[in-house]
Amino acid sequence: MTLRERILEALMEAKGNFVSGEKLALRFGVSRAAVWKTVNALRKEAYEVEAVPKKGYRLAGNDVLSPEGILSQLKTVFPFRPVCRRVVTSTNTVLKEMAAAGAEEGTVLLAEEQTEGRGRLGRSFYSPFGSGLYMSILLMPEQLPSKAARLTTMAACAAALAIEELTGRDVGIKWVNDLYMDGKKVCGILTEASMSLESGRLERAVVGIGVNLREPEGGFPPELRSIVGAVWGADCGETNLRNTLAARILDRFAEYYLHPDSDDCYLTYKQRSFLLGKEINILHPDGSHSPATALSVDRNYRLVVRLADGREALLNSGEVSVRPQQPN
Ligand code: BTN
Repeated sequence: MTLRERILEALMEAKGNFVSGEKLALRFGVSRAAVWKTVNALRKEAYEVEAVPKKGYRLAGNDVLSPEGILSQLKTVFPFRPVCRRVVTSTNTVLKEMAAAGAEEGTVLLAEEQTEGRGRLGRSFYSPFGSGLYMSILLMPEQLPSKAARLTTMAACAAALAIEELTGRDVGIKWVNDLYMDGKKVCGILTEASMSLESGRLERAVVGIGVNLREPEGGFPPELRSIVGAVWGADCGETNLRNTLAARILDRFAEYYLHPDSDDCYLTYKQRSFLLGKEINILHPDGSHSPATALSVDRNYRLVVRLADGREALLNSGEVSVRPQQPN
C-alpha cells in the first residue's frame, strides 16, 4: 500500500474523528511533513480533509466508505473482506486483477468513483464521485458455468431488498437484472466469470453491483436523464449510507449464495418483475427488434414470451424494452 492509501484508510477508520498528524507519522514511519503533503494530495483528489491545530486531521463528509463501517454492520457468517478505494477504473476490472494476484473468495472491492465503469453488452456505467455505490464481490463457486447467471440474479434480489429496507419504497426488476424505482433505472449488475478448462466448472466470478444513490451535483448527464434515476435525493445527508447499504446487500447476497436451492431468490425476483403481462420489444444485436408479450419468468430466470406469431419462446439473455402503448 502507498502512504496515500494508508493515510486514507486510517482517516476512514477514524469515522469522522480526528487523528493527530504525529500519530499518523509514527504509525507509518514517516515525517509529519510527509503526512501533511499526503493530506494535501488527498484534498486535490476531492477528499474533504479538515486540519485543526492540536487535533489533527479528520475526513469530513458523513458518508465515507470504510471496511470497518461495513464489517461492523455485517451479520452473515460468510467471510467478506471489504477493500475500499477512492478511485479505480472499474471495480470489476481491478478485482479480477486482485484475484489473479491471489485475493481470496469474499474479497469485496468498493470505490468512491470509477473512471471506466462498465455495464452489460459493452456499455459504460456512469460512476461519478460521491453519488453511487460501486462494488464487486469475488466468488469461487465451483459451479457449472450455466449457474453463473444465478449469481447476477442473487445480486439483483439482494440489492432490491436492501434498497427497499432502507427506503421503505418499492423496487422493480426489469429482466434481466436492472433495478427500477419510479420508472427509472437505479441499479445495474455485471457478472464476469472465468471457467476452468480442466473441470469445466466456474473458476471464479466477479459480481459487480452499481447503485445510483444520490443524483450527482448538476444532475445526470442529459443523455441519461430520461432513463436513469437515484435512490435518494441529492440532499440526502444520511450518515454512513453507503457502508450500510453495502452491508445490507452483502448480508442478503450471502443468504442466497449459501442456500442456492432455496426458493427465496426466485420468489423475490418474480414478485418484482414488472415486465410480466406487458407488451415488449425484443432487441436484437443488429439493432432490429421484434414485438412479443412477456408472460413469465421460469426457474432458470429465462423470460417466457409469446411471439407475434403466437409461439412461445424462452429468452436466456439479452435486452427487451416495454412497448409504448398504441393510442386507441
Ligand atoms: C448494467 O447496468 O449494464 C450493469 C452495470 C454494472 C455496474 C457495476 S458498478 C461496479 C462494477 N464495476 C463495473 O465496472 N461495473 C459494475
